[in-house]
Amino acid sequence: MAVDIVREYPDTTWSDDGPTRAVEAAVETGHVLSFPHLAFVLSDSERKFLDERWADGRAKNISVRWPSGELRGAAADGADLPALRSMIVRYADMAERLVLRLFPHYAGHLRRGNSSFRPADMASRKTSWRQDDTRLHVDAFPSNPMQGTRLLRVFSNVNPSGRPREWRVGERFESFAQRYLPRIGRPLPLSASLLATLGITKRRRTEYDHVMLQLHDRAKADLAYQHDGPQARVDFAPGTTWVVYSDQVLHAAMGGQHMMEQTFYLEVEDLAQPETSPLRTLERLLNRPLR
Ligand SMILES: [Fe+2]
Repeated sequence: MAVDIVREYPDTTWSDDGPTRAVEAAVETGHVLSFPHLAFVLSDSERKFLDERWADGRAKNISVRWPSGELRGAAADGADLPALRSMIVRYADMAERLVLRLFPHYAGHLRRGNSSFRPADMASRKTSWRQDDTRLHVDAFPSNPMQGTRLLRVFSNVNPSGRPREWRVGERFESFAQRYLPRIGRPLPLSASLLATLGITKRRRTEYDHVMLQLHDRAKADLAYQHDGPQARVDFAPGTTWVVYSDQVLHAAMGGQHMMEQTFYLEVEDLAQPETSPLRTLERLLNRPLR
């Protein structure tokens, strides 16, 4: 089965006068929106930041947290610190302008999540299978239950030496979910409130979060699915920006270095078509609410 979920757009500008607008239907139905001519351009003085040494070694990303605007994970001092921060903040501002043009329906509802700069080589990361993002997965985090809230992400490849960001993408969310749902049981009674009380989760882990974590883990643990499941290889060349619902699109990051990423949050009710969301899709397949 061929996977064909990448849609390309000709935009060369982040600002309001770009040609592509009101493409909520494309992103909400699980496409990757790719802009091969929409580069995040670094200034001459910023180009030195394209080096792993600026990350402090504990975090894999240098990030700006919102709403505080605090910079985390950077190994910099003096004037480099505000310069690094302002590069990431500029990316956050441009990404926000872009998504509000692409998805005007979200105006007033989109919340800004972390902004990050990832200077490290993908291939150099050594992790457990569960954290191994070279395996196809949908984003779901054990300590950060989303309770159905959507994860919209904007990525830009800023590699200076021609290296693409190499991804694999997989089948549509609904067929992926149908594959594993029959084997996913209900969460243990009390486990959600216990995890929240103990501070292991930031908020209550709903049954939606339980199912999403199971889907994430079962896909990553299934080597036959990783090798032979429906998928396609996608290379994002330097200068490319791409936009995707990472809680819906099966993706795996196979290689590349130097990337910007901006996360946005959106409630299911604020989508143009709420029924396309993972929450509503899973509720339909299971025929019960996942609250
Ligand atoms: Fe991911």
